[in-house]
Amino acid sequence: MKISIIVAMAENGAIGFRNQLLYHIPEDLKRFKALTIGHTVVMGRNTYLSLPNGALPQRRNIVLSRTIKNITGCDVYVSLEEALHSCSEGEEVFIIGGEKVYRQAIPMVQRIYLTLIKRAPLQADAFFPKISIQQWDMSIKEERDGYSFIQYDRK
Ligand SMILES: NC(=O)c1ccc[n+]([C@@H]2O[C@H](COP(=O)([O-])OP(=O)(O)OC[C@H]3O[C@@H](n4cnc5c(N)ncnc54)[C@H](OP(=O)(O)O)[C@@H]3O)[C@@H](O)[C@H]2O)c1
Repeated sequence: MKISIIVAMAENGAIGFRNQLLYHIPEDLKRFKALTIGHTVVMGRNTYLSLPNGALPQRRNIVLSRTIKNITGCDVYVSLEEALHSCSEGEEVFIIGGEKVYRQAIPMVQRIYLTLIKRAPLQADAFFPKISIQQWDMSIKEERDGYSFIQYDRK
């Protein structure tokens, strides 16, 4: 199984404020869909609650929670290990946030799909964990207006 992170982050590491995303970049949302549709996405309970329409369509939605047992359209697990154990061997599983889940997942992840946004947010209370850049190859970098799409693969 390949475990990947997908994240949109400002240059200071910010990823969210008051349980909402910081930016609305249509092309980034398109990329998120294109990469994740047909796959499994894993998210924390807060990220699930931030979704405007509940479970993301055309994907297996896994939500991690120790306090909520059942969520319509989602498979709920009490640990990341159990959640990953339920996934098929050959598939790419996408860890889609938030901060708490990214933090735990990083050591298991082979690839990071990063959207790096040049505009600093006014306020943020959720951040992507610092990664040691020596452990990662930047395999793809595509510059856009105000942001870039970057792919890191673990060395
Ligand atoms: N920019 C981006 O790409 C991006 C992507 C996603 C999210 N975000 C942002 O990130 C922020 C949310 O991050 P967050 O750290 O507050 O929350 P989160 O990681 O989405 O969810 C945390 C919750 O998930 C559950 N959880 C986490 N790890 C678990 C484990 N190992 N086993 C069982 N349950 C587990 C717990 O729920 P219980 O308390 O129910 O046990 C925990 O309180 C929001 O601002 C959101 O918009 C940004």
